[in-house]
Amino acid sequence: MEGPKQDPTVIRREQLHDVSAIRKLNTEAFGQAEEAGIVDSIRKNCGEDAVSLVAVLEDQVVGHILFSPVRVECGDRVVHGMGLGPMAVLPEHQRTGIGSELVRVGVSEMRGSCCPFVIVLGHPQFYPRFGFEPASRRGIRCEWEVPDEAFMILILEATEMDGVSGLARYRSEFSAETA
Ligand SMILES: CC(C)(COP(=O)(O)OP(=O)(O)OC[C@H]1O[C@@H](n2cnc3c(N)ncnc32)[C@H](O)[C@@H]1OP(=O)(O)O)[C@@H](O)C(=O)NCCC(=O)NCCS
Repeated sequence: MEGPKQDPTVIRREQLHDVSAIRKLNTEAFGQAEEAGIVDSIRKNCGEDAVSLVAVLEDQVVGHILFSPVRVECGDRVVHGMGLGPMAVLPEHQRTGIGSELVRVGVSEMRGSCCPFVIVLGHPQFYPRFGFEPASRRGIRCEWEVPDEAFMILILEATEMDGVSGLARYRSEFSAETA
């Protein structure tokens, strides 16, 4: 016999009443409070310039993804894009497709807002399936010393990104937390 049908996961923009659940889930998924602190600081300082999405399953926030402004300095030109992260799914809901859905919906929002590129510092086994490639292939470097394959980029506006290379910088909130 079939059990009760589980509601599908809904991906939507964060709302004010989600804030403490987002903090809790980031702390739990990462096993430390650093990423939750970054999310709080970006929310406070970036406002509408950041995009924060939650995955909700049966009225519970089970996943979260943040996009915040980044810049690539290319000679005397600065190209603005978005950085994906932190992103997290509650441990008991991991490996059920929620993280992938958050990336897909988030990237589609970025595409819709004419963002030329998204960078991510993350698992090199996970992000290439969404079109991310090592940023070093395009001569785009991370401001921190990280393994080459972990720093990736997804190009959304090829013409705007033509010939763009250089140092990619996240918001200072990321360095403040990692310092
Ligand atoms: C990484 C994370 C957000 C993925 O979310 P998810 O809902 O589990 O992802 P999905 O079910 O859509 O996809 C599963 C894929 O995620 C990747 N993944 C999940 N956990 C991983 C881990 N601990 N290390 C490396 N890759 C991992 C794998 O590639 C996996 O694919 P596979 O099942 O084919 O091996 C989630 O596991 C998480 O919150 N981890 C802890 C926090 C974290 O590391 N966040 C940083 C992300 S860069």
